[in-house]
Amino acid sequence: MITVDLSMLEKFIPAHDLAQSLEDIDRQAQVLLDRTGAGSEMLGWLDLPEKSRSLVRPVQEIAARIRAEQATLICIGIGGSYLGAQAAITALAPEADIVFAGHHLSATYLQQLMDRLEHKPAYINVISKSGTTTEPGLAFRILGEWLKTSYPDDWRQRIIVTTDPARGALRELATTHGLTTFPIPPDVGGRFSVLSAVGLLPIAVAGIDTAALLEGADKQLSILQSKRGQANPGCQLAAVRSYLYRKGYKLEVLATFHPELQQVAEWWKQLAGESEGKNHTGIFPASCTYTTDLHSLGQWIQEGERTVMETHLWVADSGGDVTIPATGDDTDGLSYLAGTSLNGVNDKVRQAVVQAHTEGGVPCTTITMPRLAAASLGALFIFFEYAIALTGYHLGVNPFNQPGVEAYKQEMFRRLGKPGYEG
Ligand code: PA5
Repeated sequence: MITVDLSMLEKFIPAHDLAQSLEDIDRQAQVLLDRTGAGSEMLGWLDLPEKSRSLVRPVQEIAARIRAEQATLICIGIGGSYLGAQAAITALAPEADIVFAGHHLSATYLQQLMDRLEHKPAYINVISKSGTTTEPGLAFRILGEWLKTSYPDDWRQRIIVTTDPARGALRELATTHGLTTFPIPPDVGGRFSVLSAVGLLPIAVAGIDTAALLEGADKQLSILQSKRGQANPGCQLAAVRSYLYRKGYKLEVLATFHPELQQVAEWWKQLAGESEGKNHTGIFPASCTYTTDLHSLGQWIQEGERTVMETHLWVADSGGDVTIPATGDDTDGLSYLAGTSLNGVNDKVRQAVVQAHTEGGVPCTTITMPRLAAASLGALFIFFEYAIALTGYHLGVNPFNQPGVEAYKQEMFRRLGKPGYEG
């Protein structure tokens, strides 16, 4: 299960302040458990580890069909409608034949995608809860027409729609054409939806064990819902984040030492940013991949403005390892590491970074997931969702809405000439 190490925070959080912050967070945890807080109508994500079990078989069946055909799955979606799947696939099955579209408006990207897939079998999974989001809407219009041209007879069997169970343009379109659909529960917001069909279908197509993913999430959730204070890793993380934010640490860097988890950090950034950044409050979430970014942003983190906290994401057993070979000579000066495992070197570097950054004035919390595997990732997803929901409550915001994302759309629609937005 997920563990949180606060041992390097002593100089930043006096013990009695931490105890107080944990008490405050415990109260928010009770509000979450009772489902009485802001946005309580959007807490369906807490039920997904159990409820989504019924999806394992149907998504597996579709996945088997797509994989048997050696087809490419094109996942169309933006924000919470693709980031979770992309995170899991990049971490656990990076070689899977899955591409993403509809998460920006690059014509070059779409054209290159269609050129690349011209003679390859393909399926589309279009994912949009509202069914009206511009970027995936346009991508689906373009790629849907392209698919129809390539498969005039059976294009309907090649499109899977993941959307609201009853409402929206995509639901209507799916009903009109008799397309296969999966529901996005109305009480689950996009960024909390990775354990629904939104994430599970592409994740299954990638060959990842969705049952294990849900089981890991379920086990982690029972810890989060039954333990309190120091015994609850979600409460620990929320207590530290809220406390440090109030002490002026306005930015948080989620730093992983595993490039496989880079997209998990992207998923986390949206989860944290869209959940907490409102009412002119909220931690600004950023991410780094180490050791790569030690040669880029490392200088800023070590010596820049002291407003940044770091959350390190570490995998205890990351799977494969490589032993550093001995060579006939020591021209490269690295013979002192001969016979050492590369994972061991990575861990030593991690320890050094935590030490140096702490001494440089950056509060460092370490989160450890046991393995780079489906169950651990499921646990990590629900753990972050829970910790961020609690931080949001503690900051006094509704973590489950996103009113701010609408502001630019009015002006965008006016400029694009959308009927009804002329004024
Ligand atoms: O977290 C959210 O709610 C958003 O990021 C949405 O997922 C994103 O805007 C896409 O919305 P939709 O699924 O309606 O197309």
